[in-house]
Amino acid sequence: GSSQSVASQDFAQLKNDLLLRAARGERVERPPCWIMRQAGRYLPEYHEVKNGRDFFETCRDAEIASEITIQPVRRYAGLLDAAIIFSDILVIPQAMGMKVEMVEGHGPSFPEPLRTVDDLVKVLDYEVDVLKELDWAFKAITLTRKKLDGQVPLFGFCGGPWTLLVYMTEGGGSRLFRFAKTWINEHPDWSHKLLQKITDVAIEFLAQQVVAGAQILQVFESWGGELSSDDFDEFSLPYLKEIAAKVPKRLAELGVTENIPMIVFAKGSWYALDKLCGAGYNAVSLDWLWNPKEATKINDGRVTLQGNFDPGAIYGTNENITKKVEKMIKGFGGGKQHYIVNFGHGTHPFMDTEKIRFFLEECHRIGSQK
Ligand code: CP3
Repeated sequence: GSSQSVASQDFAQLKNDLLLRAARGERVERPPCWIMRQAGRYLPEYHEVKNGRDFFETCRDAEIASEITIQPVRRYAGLLDAAIIFSDILVIPQAMGMKVEMVEGHGPSFPEPLRTVDDLVKVLDYEVDVLKELDWAFKAITLTRKKLDGQVPLFGFCGGPWTLLVYMTEGGGSRLFRFAKTWINEHPDWSHKLLQKITDVAIEFLAQQVVAGAQILQVFESWGGELSSDDFDEFSLPYLKEIAAKVPKRLAELGVTENIPMIVFAKGSWYALDKLCGAGYNAVSLDWLWNPKEATKINDGRVTLQGNFDPGAIYGTNENITKKVEKMIKGFGGGKQHYIVNFGHGTHPFMDTEKIRFFLEECHRIGSQK
Protein backbone atom coordinates (compact mmCIF):
# COMPACT_ATOMS: atom_id res chain seq x y z
CA GLY A 1 0.00 0.00 0.00
CA SER A 2 1.54 3.23 1.19
CA SER A 3 5.18 2.27 0.61
CA GLN A 4 4.34 1.87 -3.10
CA SER A 5 2.79 5.36 -3.24
CA VAL A 6 5.95 6.77 -1.72
CA ALA A 7 8.05 4.91 -4.29
CA SER A 8 5.98 6.40 -7.11
CA GLN A 9 7.37 9.82 -6.24
CA ASP A 10 10.89 8.60 -7.08
CA PHE A 11 10.05 7.92 -10.72
CA ALA A 12 11.80 9.98 -13.38
CA GLN A 13 9.92 12.77 -15.12
CA LEU A 14 8.14 11.56 -18.26
CA LYS A 15 10.03 12.83 -21.34
CA ASN A 16 7.45 11.68 -23.91
CA ASP A 17 3.86 12.30 -22.85
CA LEU A 18 2.45 12.33 -26.41
CA LEU A 19 0.24 9.29 -25.78
CA LEU A 20 -1.18 10.64 -22.53
CA ARG A 21 -1.98 13.96 -24.18
CA ALA A 22 -3.66 12.31 -27.17
CA ALA A 23 -5.64 9.99 -24.90
CA ARG A 24 -6.89 13.00 -22.95
CA GLY A 25 -8.11 14.59 -26.18
CA GLU A 26 -5.45 17.29 -26.55
CA ARG A 27 -4.14 18.37 -29.94
CA VAL A 28 -0.73 16.81 -30.68
CA GLU A 29 2.08 17.25 -33.19
CA ARG A 30 1.68 13.68 -34.53
CA PRO A 31 -0.33 10.64 -33.49
CA PRO A 32 1.34 8.53 -30.79
CA CYS A 33 2.21 4.94 -31.77
CA TRP A 34 2.22 1.63 -29.96
CA ILE A 35 1.24 -1.89 -31.01
CA MET A 36 -1.05 -4.38 -29.35
CA ARG A 37 1.13 -7.28 -28.15
CA GLN A 38 4.30 -5.40 -29.03
CA ALA A 39 6.30 -7.36 -26.43
CA GLY A 40 6.93 -11.02 -27.13
CA ARG A 41 6.29 -13.63 -29.76
CA TYR A 42 7.77 -12.06 -32.91
CA LEU A 43 10.91 -10.70 -31.20
CA PRO A 44 14.01 -12.93 -31.31
CA GLU A 45 15.30 -11.18 -28.16
CA TYR A 46 12.10 -12.26 -26.36
CA HIS A 47 12.71 -15.95 -27.11
CA GLU A 48 16.31 -15.53 -26.08
CA VAL A 49 15.43 -14.09 -22.68
CA LYS A 50 12.48 -16.45 -22.17
CA ASN A 51 14.80 -19.34 -22.95
CA GLY A 52 12.11 -22.04 -22.96
CA ARG A 53 10.85 -21.06 -19.50
CA ASP A 54 7.18 -21.28 -18.60
CA PHE A 55 5.19 -18.21 -19.73
CA PHE A 56 3.68 -17.30 -16.35
CA GLU A 57 7.04 -17.88 -14.68
CA THR A 58 8.53 -15.17 -16.92
CA CYS A 59 5.64 -12.82 -16.04
CA ARG A 60 6.23 -13.39 -12.32
CA ASP A 61 9.93 -12.63 -12.50
CA ALA A 62 10.14 -8.83 -12.29
CA GLU A 63 13.63 -8.68 -13.83
CA ILE A 64 12.63 -10.77 -16.85
CA ALA A 65 9.16 -9.24 -17.28
CA SER A 66 10.60 -5.71 -17.19
CA GLU A 67 13.32 -6.64 -19.67
CA ILE A 68 10.73 -8.12 -22.11
CA THR A 69 8.48 -5.06 -21.67
CA ILE A 70 11.32 -2.74 -22.65
CA GLN A 71 12.65 -4.83 -25.58
CA PRO A 72 10.36 -3.30 -28.24
CA VAL A 73 10.95 0.23 -26.87
CA ARG A 74 14.70 -0.36 -27.22
CA ARG A 75 14.50 -2.03 -30.66
CA TYR A 76 12.20 0.65 -32.08
CA ALA A 77 13.87 3.53 -30.25
CA GLY A 78 12.03 6.79 -30.88
CA LEU A 79 9.23 5.04 -32.78
CA LEU A 80 7.11 3.68 -29.91
CA ASP A 81 5.35 6.10 -27.59
CA ALA A 82 4.39 3.58 -24.89
CA ALA A 83 5.39 0.32 -23.25
CA ILE A 84 2.86 -2.29 -22.02
CA ILE A 85 3.72 -4.40 -19.03
CA PHE A 86 4.52 -8.01 -19.94
CA SER A 87 1.79 -10.07 -18.29
CA ASP A 88 -1.52 -11.58 -19.38
CA ILE A 89 -5.24 -11.04 -19.00
CA LEU A 90 -5.47 -14.49 -17.38
CA VAL A 91 -3.70 -13.42 -14.19
CA ILE A 92 -7.11 -12.33 -12.81
CA PRO A 93 -8.55 -15.87 -12.99
CA GLN A 94 -5.32 -17.02 -11.32
CA ALA A 95 -5.81 -14.46 -8.54
CA MET A 96 -9.37 -15.82 -8.19
CA GLY A 97 -7.96 -19.23 -7.33
CA MET A 98 -8.03 -20.93 -10.72
CA LYS A 99 -5.16 -22.81 -12.27
CA VAL A 100 -4.07 -21.53 -15.69
CA GLU A 101 -1.29 -23.02 -17.78
CA MET A 102 0.22 -21.67 -20.97
CA VAL A 103 0.76 -24.59 -23.32
CA GLU A 104 3.61 -24.02 -25.78
CA GLY A 105 2.27 -23.65 -29.31
CA HIS A 106 -1.36 -24.03 -28.16
CA GLY A 107 -2.29 -21.21 -25.78
CA PRO A 108 -3.88 -20.91 -22.36
CA SER A 109 -5.46 -23.91 -20.69
CA PHE A 110 -7.49 -24.23 -17.47
CA PRO A 111 -7.32 -27.81 -16.09
CA GLU A 112 -10.51 -27.17 -14.07
CA PRO A 113 -12.84 -24.83 -15.99
CA LEU A 114 -16.14 -23.69 -14.45
CA ARG A 115 -18.79 -26.10 -15.69
CA THR A 116 -21.24 -26.52 -12.80
CA VAL A 117 -22.89 -24.15 -10.37
CA ASP A 118 -20.78 -25.78 -7.64
CA ASP A 119 -17.60 -24.89 -9.55
CA LEU A 120 -18.80 -21.32 -9.86
CA VAL A 121 -19.81 -21.00 -6.19
CA LYS A 122 -16.30 -22.04 -5.20
CA VAL A 123 -14.85 -19.14 -7.19
CA LEU A 124 -17.47 -16.72 -5.84
CA ASP A 125 -16.64 -17.75 -2.28
CA TYR A 126 -12.89 -17.46 -2.79
CA GLU A 127 -11.69 -14.30 -1.09
CA VAL A 128 -9.32 -12.47 -3.39
CA ASP A 129 -6.55 -10.40 -1.85
CA VAL A 130 -5.41 -8.50 -4.95
CA LEU A 131 -2.31 -6.96 -3.36
CA LYS A 132 -1.14 -10.34 -2.13
CA GLU A 133 -2.11 -12.57 -5.08
CA LEU A 134 -0.82 -10.16 -7.74
CA ASP A 135 2.06 -8.78 -5.72
CA TRP A 136 4.50 -9.98 -8.43
CA ALA A 137 2.65 -7.93 -11.07
CA PHE A 138 3.00 -4.73 -9.04
CA LYS A 139 6.69 -5.40 -8.45
CA ALA A 140 7.23 -5.91 -12.19
CA ILE A 141 5.41 -2.65 -12.96
CA THR A 142 7.42 -0.66 -10.41
CA LEU A 143 10.72 -2.06 -11.66
CA THR A 144 9.76 -1.49 -15.32
CA ARG A 145 8.73 2.10 -14.63
CA LYS A 146 12.12 2.69 -12.98
CA LYS A 147 14.03 1.08 -15.85
CA LEU A 148 12.05 3.05 -18.45
CA ASP A 149 13.43 6.17 -16.79
CA GLY A 150 10.69 8.37 -18.23
CA GLN A 151 11.31 7.47 -21.89
CA VAL A 152 7.66 6.53 -22.56
CA PRO A 153 4.59 5.93 -20.39
CA LEU A 154 3.80 2.43 -19.14
CA PHE A 155 0.46 0.72 -19.75
CA GLY A 156 -1.22 -1.41 -17.13
CA PHE A 157 -4.08 -3.60 -18.33
CA CYS A 158 -6.62 -6.30 -17.59
CA GLY A 159 -9.11 -8.49 -19.43
CA GLY A 160 -12.74 -7.49 -19.80
CA PRO A 161 -15.12 -9.40 -17.49
CA TRP A 162 -16.96 -11.20 -20.33
CA THR A 163 -13.68 -12.27 -21.97
CA LEU A 164 -12.43 -13.64 -18.67
CA LEU A 165 -15.75 -15.47 -18.12
CA VAL A 166 -15.21 -17.10 -21.52
CA TYR A 167 -11.72 -18.35 -20.60
CA MET A 168 -12.81 -19.45 -17.13
CA THR A 169 -15.75 -21.48 -18.44
CA GLU A 170 -14.36 -22.73 -21.75
CA GLY A 171 -11.00 -23.58 -20.21
CA GLY A 172 -9.09 -21.92 -23.03
CA GLY A 173 -9.63 -20.33 -26.42
CA SER A 174 -12.75 -21.45 -28.22
CA ARG A 175 -14.52 -21.66 -31.56
CA LEU A 176 -18.05 -22.61 -30.51
CA PHE A 177 -18.25 -20.88 -27.10
CA ARG A 178 -20.46 -23.76 -26.01
CA PHE A 179 -19.83 -23.39 -22.28
CA ALA A 180 -19.81 -19.58 -22.06
CA LYS A 181 -23.04 -19.45 -24.08
CA THR A 182 -24.60 -22.12 -21.89
CA TRP A 183 -23.79 -20.05 -18.81
CA ILE A 184 -25.31 -16.78 -20.03
CA ASN A 185 -28.35 -18.44 -21.61
CA GLU A 186 -29.10 -21.12 -19.04
CA HIS A 187 -27.85 -19.36 -15.90
CA PRO A 188 -27.85 -15.61 -16.54
CA ASP A 189 -28.07 -14.84 -12.80
CA TRP A 190 -25.04 -16.94 -11.93
CA SER A 191 -23.21 -15.45 -14.91
CA HIS A 192 -23.88 -11.96 -13.58
CA LYS A 193 -22.55 -12.96 -10.17
CA LEU A 194 -19.33 -14.15 -11.76
CA LEU A 195 -19.05 -11.07 -13.99
CA GLN A 196 -19.54 -8.84 -10.94
CA LYS A 197 -16.85 -10.65 -9.00
CA ILE A 198 -14.40 -10.38 -11.92
CA THR A 199 -15.28 -6.67 -12.22
CA ASP A 200 -14.55 -6.04 -8.54
CA VAL A 201 -11.16 -7.73 -8.86
CA ALA A 202 -10.40 -5.90 -12.13
CA ILE A 203 -11.10 -2.49 -10.55
CA GLU A 204 -8.76 -3.15 -7.65
CA PHE A 205 -6.13 -4.68 -9.93
CA LEU A 206 -6.14 -1.71 -12.33
CA ALA A 207 -6.02 0.85 -9.51
CA GLN A 208 -3.14 -0.95 -7.80
CA GLN A 209 -1.24 -1.14 -11.10
CA VAL A 210 -1.35 2.66 -11.15
CA VAL A 211 -0.15 2.87 -7.55
CA ALA A 212 2.72 0.58 -8.59
CA GLY A 213 3.63 2.83 -11.53
CA ALA A 214 1.30 2.31 -14.52
CA GLN A 215 0.50 5.63 -16.25
CA ILE A 216 -2.37 4.59 -18.55
CA LEU A 217 -4.74 1.60 -18.52
CA GLN A 218 -6.35 -0.59 -21.16
CA VAL A 219 -9.19 -3.10 -20.78
CA PHE A 220 -9.15 -5.94 -23.36
CA GLU A 221 -12.65 -7.29 -24.09
CA SER A 222 -11.20 -9.54 -26.78
CA TRP A 223 -14.24 -11.83 -27.09
CA GLY A 224 -16.76 -8.96 -27.21
CA GLY A 225 -17.70 -9.82 -30.77
CA GLU A 226 -19.01 -13.25 -29.78
CA LEU A 227 -21.98 -11.58 -28.08
CA SER A 228 -25.09 -10.37 -29.89
CA SER A 229 -25.75 -6.67 -29.53
CA ASP A 230 -28.39 -7.30 -26.84
CA ASP A 231 -26.18 -9.72 -24.97
CA PHE A 232 -23.28 -7.26 -25.14
CA ASP A 233 -25.57 -4.68 -23.50
CA GLU A 234 -26.35 -7.17 -20.74
CA PHE A 235 -23.14 -9.16 -20.18
CA SER A 236 -20.31 -6.85 -21.19
CA LEU A 237 -21.11 -3.13 -21.38
CA PRO A 238 -22.40 -2.60 -17.81
CA TYR A 239 -19.22 -4.11 -16.39
CA LEU A 240 -16.94 -2.16 -18.72
CA LYS A 241 -18.77 1.01 -17.62
CA GLU A 242 -18.43 0.08 -13.97
CA ILE A 243 -14.68 -0.33 -14.40
CA ALA A 244 -14.39 3.10 -16.04
CA ALA A 245 -16.46 4.71 -13.31
CA LYS A 246 -14.89 3.05 -10.30
CA VAL A 247 -11.18 2.97 -11.10
CA PRO A 248 -10.83 6.79 -10.76
CA LYS A 249 -12.77 6.67 -7.47
CA ARG A 250 -10.54 3.91 -6.14
CA LEU A 251 -7.46 5.85 -7.28
CA ALA A 252 -8.65 8.91 -5.39
CA GLU A 253 -9.04 6.75 -2.26
CA LEU A 254 -5.53 5.45 -2.78
CA GLY A 255 -4.19 9.00 -2.94
CA VAL A 256 -3.47 9.15 -6.68
CA THR A 257 -4.19 12.70 -7.78
CA GLU A 258 -3.32 12.50 -11.51
CA ASN A 259 -5.99 11.81 -14.07
CA ILE A 260 -5.10 8.37 -15.48
CA PRO A 261 -6.38 7.81 -19.04
CA MET A 262 -8.31 4.61 -19.69
CA ILE A 263 -8.82 2.80 -23.01
CA VAL A 264 -11.30 0.05 -23.88
CA PHE A 265 -10.91 -2.49 -26.69
CA ALA A 266 -13.98 -4.59 -27.47
CA LYS A 267 -12.89 -6.68 -30.42
CA GLY A 268 -15.66 -7.40 -32.92
CA SER A 269 -18.34 -5.40 -31.08
CA TRP A 270 -18.97 -3.05 -34.00
CA TYR A 271 -22.61 -2.51 -33.00
CA ALA A 272 -21.49 -1.05 -29.67
CA LEU A 273 -19.17 1.73 -30.84
CA ASP A 274 -21.62 4.53 -30.13
CA LYS A 275 -22.23 3.20 -26.60
CA LEU A 276 -18.54 2.58 -25.97
CA CYS A 277 -17.77 6.20 -26.88
CA GLY A 278 -20.06 7.17 -24.00
CA ALA A 279 -18.95 4.47 -21.57
CA GLY A 280 -16.59 6.65 -19.55
CA TYR A 281 -13.26 5.76 -21.22
CA ASN A 282 -10.90 8.36 -22.64
CA ALA A 283 -10.26 6.25 -25.72
CA VAL A 284 -11.84 3.38 -27.64
CA SER A 285 -9.60 0.95 -29.52
CA LEU A 286 -10.88 -0.44 -32.82
CA ASP A 287 -10.22 -3.70 -34.64
CA TRP A 288 -9.24 -3.59 -38.31
CA LEU A 289 -12.75 -4.31 -39.58
CA TRP A 290 -13.64 -0.67 -38.99
CA ASN A 291 -13.53 1.94 -41.71
CA PRO A 292 -11.78 4.81 -39.87
CA LYS A 293 -14.03 7.48 -41.41
CA GLU A 294 -17.21 5.72 -40.32
CA ALA A 295 -15.88 5.19 -36.80
CA THR A 296 -14.80 8.85 -36.60
CA LYS A 297 -18.29 9.92 -37.64
CA ILE A 298 -19.96 7.76 -35.00
CA ASN A 299 -17.54 8.98 -32.33
CA ASP A 300 -18.27 12.60 -33.25
CA GLY A 301 -15.33 13.98 -31.28
CA ARG A 302 -16.35 12.48 -27.93
CA VAL A 303 -13.26 10.35 -27.25
CA THR A 304 -9.91 9.41 -28.76
CA LEU A 305 -9.99 6.49 -31.20
CA GLN A 306 -7.15 3.99 -31.32
CA GLY A 307 -6.30 1.51 -34.03
CA ASN A 308 -6.80 -0.11 -36.40
CA PHE A 309 -4.16 -1.34 -38.84
CA ASP A 310 -4.79 -4.87 -40.10
CA PRO A 311 -1.88 -6.82 -38.59
CA GLY A 312 -2.04 -9.08 -41.65
CA ALA A 313 -0.84 -6.18 -43.82
CA ILE A 314 2.59 -6.57 -42.19
CA TYR A 315 2.95 -9.65 -44.44
CA GLY A 316 2.70 -7.47 -47.55
CA THR A 317 4.96 -5.08 -49.41
CA ASN A 318 6.23 -1.74 -48.12
CA GLU A 319 4.22 0.06 -50.82
CA ASN A 320 1.07 -1.62 -49.57
CA ILE A 321 1.89 -0.71 -45.96
CA THR A 322 2.43 2.95 -46.95
CA LYS A 323 -0.86 3.07 -48.82
CA LYS A 324 -2.77 1.55 -45.91
CA VAL A 325 -1.12 3.74 -43.26
CA GLU A 326 -2.00 6.81 -45.31
CA LYS A 327 -5.63 5.76 -45.63
CA MET A 328 -5.83 4.94 -41.94
CA ILE A 329 -4.35 8.19 -40.62
CA LYS A 330 -6.31 10.34 -43.09
CA GLY A 331 -9.44 8.37 -42.25
CA PHE A 332 -8.98 9.22 -38.59
CA GLY A 333 -8.78 12.89 -39.50
CA GLY A 334 -5.01 13.25 -39.94
CA GLY A 335 -4.00 12.14 -36.48
CA LYS A 336 -3.42 15.48 -34.75
CA GLN A 337 -6.30 15.00 -32.32
CA HIS A 338 -8.39 12.14 -30.94
CA TYR A 339 -6.20 9.47 -32.48
CA ILE A 340 -3.62 6.87 -31.40
CA VAL A 341 -1.93 4.55 -33.92
CA ASN A 342 -2.26 0.85 -33.15
CA PHE A 343 -2.86 -2.53 -34.75
CA GLY A 344 -6.46 -3.73 -34.90
CA HIS A 345 -5.31 -6.78 -32.92
CA GLY A 346 -2.02 -8.27 -31.76
CA THR A 347 1.22 -9.09 -33.53
CA HIS A 348 1.74 -12.65 -34.82
CA PRO A 349 4.79 -14.80 -34.05
CA PHE A 350 5.82 -14.86 -37.75
CA MET A 351 6.02 -11.12 -38.27
CA ASP A 352 9.14 -9.55 -39.71
CA THR A 353 10.52 -7.06 -37.20
CA GLU A 354 11.81 -4.83 -40.03
CA LYS A 355 8.32 -4.62 -41.59
CA ILE A 356 6.99 -3.49 -38.23
CA ARG A 357 9.74 -0.86 -38.11
CA PHE A 358 8.71 0.32 -41.57
CA PHE A 359 5.07 0.52 -40.44
CA LEU A 360 6.05 2.66 -37.43
CA GLU A 361 8.31 4.92 -39.52
CA GLU A 362 5.50 5.50 -42.00
CA CYS A 363 3.07 6.31 -39.19
CA HIS A 364 5.55 8.93 -37.93
CA ARG A 365 6.17 10.37 -41.41
CA ILE A 366 2.55 10.48 -42.53
CA GLY A 367 1.27 11.44 -39.08
CA SER A 368 3.64 14.45 -38.97
CA GLN A 369 2.51 15.90 -42.33
CA LYS A 370 0.73 19.25 -42.13
O1 CP3 B 1 3.00 -6.53 -25.62
C1 CP3 B 1 2.10 -7.05 -24.95
O2 CP3 B 1 0.93 -6.73 -25.15
C2 CP3 B 1 2.53 -7.99 -23.86
C3 CP3 B 1 1.59 -8.26 -22.78
C4 CP3 B 1 0.37 -9.08 -23.14
C5 CP3 B 1 0.34 -10.49 -23.37
N1 CP3 B 1 -0.94 -10.87 -23.49
C6 CP3 B 1 1.51 -11.38 -23.44
C7 CP3 B 1 1.38 -12.72 -24.04
C8 CP3 B 1 -0.94 -8.63 -23.22
C9 CP3 B 1 -1.45 -7.20 -23.14
C10 CP3 B 1 -1.77 -9.78 -23.41
C11 CP3 B 1 -3.24 -9.70 -23.46
C12 CP3 B 1 -4.01 -10.89 -23.79
N2 CP3 B 1 -3.77 -12.20 -23.45
C13 CP3 B 1 -5.25 -10.83 -24.46
C14 CP3 B 1 -5.93 -9.56 -24.92
C15 CP3 B 1 -5.38 -9.01 -26.18
C16 CP3 B 1 -5.72 -9.83 -27.40
O3 CP3 B 1 -4.78 -10.25 -28.06
O4 CP3 B 1 -6.91 -10.00 -27.67
C17 CP3 B 1 -5.71 -12.15 -24.58
C18 CP3 B 1 -6.99 -12.61 -25.28
C19 CP3 B 1 -4.76 -13.01 -23.93
C20 CP3 B 1 -4.86 -14.48 -23.73
C21 CP3 B 1 -3.70 -15.20 -24.32
N3 CP3 B 1 -2.41 -15.13 -23.84
C22 CP3 B 1 -3.69 -16.07 -25.44
C23 CP3 B 1 -4.90 -16.41 -26.27
C24 CP3 B 1 -2.38 -16.54 -25.59
C25 CP3 B 1 -1.86 -17.64 -26.50
C26 CP3 B 1 -1.92 -17.38 -27.92
C27 CP3 B 1 -1.05 -16.27 -28.35
O5 CP3 B 1 -1.63 -15.24 -28.69
O6 CP3 B 1 0.18 -16.44 -28.43
C28 CP3 B 1 -1.59 -15.90 -24.62
C29 CP3 B 1 -0.13 -16.04 -24.44
C30 CP3 B 1 0.67 -14.80 -24.49
N4 CP3 B 1 0.41 -13.65 -23.81
C31 CP3 B 1 1.88 -14.61 -25.21
C32 CP3 B 1 2.33 -13.32 -24.94
C33 CP3 B 1 3.59 -12.69 -25.42
C34 CP3 B 1 2.56 -15.68 -26.06
C35 CP3 B 1 3.35 -16.58 -25.18
C36 CP3 B 1 4.57 -17.09 -25.89
O7 CP3 B 1 4.48 -17.38 -27.08
O8 CP3 B 1 5.61 -17.17 -25.23
